[in-house]
Amino acid sequence: MRITLSVIKADIGGFVGHSSIHPDLVSTAQEMLEQARRRGTLIDYKVLACGDDLQLVMTHTRGEDNPEVHQLAFEVFKAGTAVAKRLKLYGAGQDILSDAFSGNIRGMGPGLAEMEMEERPSEPVIVFMADKTSAGAWNLPLYKMFADPFNTAGLVIAESLHRGFAFEIQDVKAHKKITLNAPAEIYDMLMFMGAPSRYAVKRVFNRATGEIAAVSSTERLAEIAGRYVGKDDPVLVVRCQGNFPAVGEVLEPFAHPFIVEGWMRGSHHGPLMPTSFRDATPSRFDGPPRVIAAGFQLAEGHLVGPRDLFDDPAFDLARQEANLLANMLRRHGPFEPHRLPLEEMEYTTMAGIMRRLGDRWEPL
Ligand code: 13P
Ligand code: 13P
Ligand code: MG
Ligand code: MG
Repeated sequence: MRITLSVIKADIGGFVGHSSIHPDLVSTAQEMLEQARRRGTLIDYKVLACGDDLQLVMTHTRGEDNPEVHQLAFEVFKAGTAVAKRLKLYGAGQDILSDAFSGNIRGMGPGLAEMEMEERPSEPVIVFMADKTSAGAWNLPLYKMFADPFNTAGLVIAESLHRGFAFEIQDVKAHKKITLNAPAEIYDMLMFMGAPSRYAVKRVFNRATGEIAAVSSTERLAEIAGRYVGKDDPVLVVRCQGNFPAVGEVLEPFAHPFIVEGWMRGSHHGPLMPTSFRDATPSRFDGPPRVIAAGFQLAEGHLVGPRDLFDDPAFDLARQEANLLANMLRRHGPFEPHRLPLEEMEYTTMAGIMRRLGDRWEPL
């Protein structure tokens, strides 16, 4: 059975500030998606949240970029924005950059990761959701999952993974893409993937079978809006087991927190902390950035789950390490490398300061 899994997300208002989501936004989305399920637009759905981002996880048989599914998500975000405005939630409608829907939600502000697949006899998938970070944050964990044998034992010992994976990498500024193969081209690949503010992995494929293994959201809000509105807070969908890494291999990269951009005003680096759904409420200095993992078994398109996969004491040390890294970076205050380099700053007073102080700068 061919199934499409569509994850579409947006920040339509935070509660309180940018720290979390109000339950009324979740219930509004649930009611509307339930109606869509009854109408037959969707097979199944789950409404989740990570920090202040509302996450619509939907299954259907309509394929990727389906106007009806995209319009549904858009209507949910509009209705949620109306609720957020009534409650005067923070940044109501923050990520909705346009009022007029014209067939595709791409480029309108929300992030999306869609994957059409032939549902296997058993189809375990993990939906990762992050808050306070940008598209590109998945580059490092995707490399580890699909190209690093120190992370994924299956690359070495499982026939089905041994030929490696192909990575589709997007240049989010020049709007181009390239596909590079692991392991043959890993040094070329890492040159791009190691610069996640410019290059983001969009898709990963099994090289032996051509099957899609992973898809992420690569929308850069600031690129679309032309100014700072909020962070991208991207999502990632990964298929597990069989011709793909095992569930534990897919989760393993998050056992060692790494540094991402997007903390406080989208302008600081911070550690990505894996947490349970309940703890995905970034509050300290609006962070540190969070990631949650929702595990599902698909059954004829039904979403059996979610299982809250980081709600496991095995990730306690990662959380502790993230807190230590957070302290270390916070000590830098307004200094780089905690603060982003000037050219990456999306939220800056520099232009105004330069205007005001321009004629006080003298030649050396
Ligand atoms: P079980 O024997 O618990 O099914 O585990 C198989 C496996 O390969 C886990 O990585
Ligand atoms: P969000 O992108 O999650 O809304 O965060 C914005 C921000 O500036 C937090 O400090
Ligand atoms: Mg917000
Ligand atoms: Mg957010």
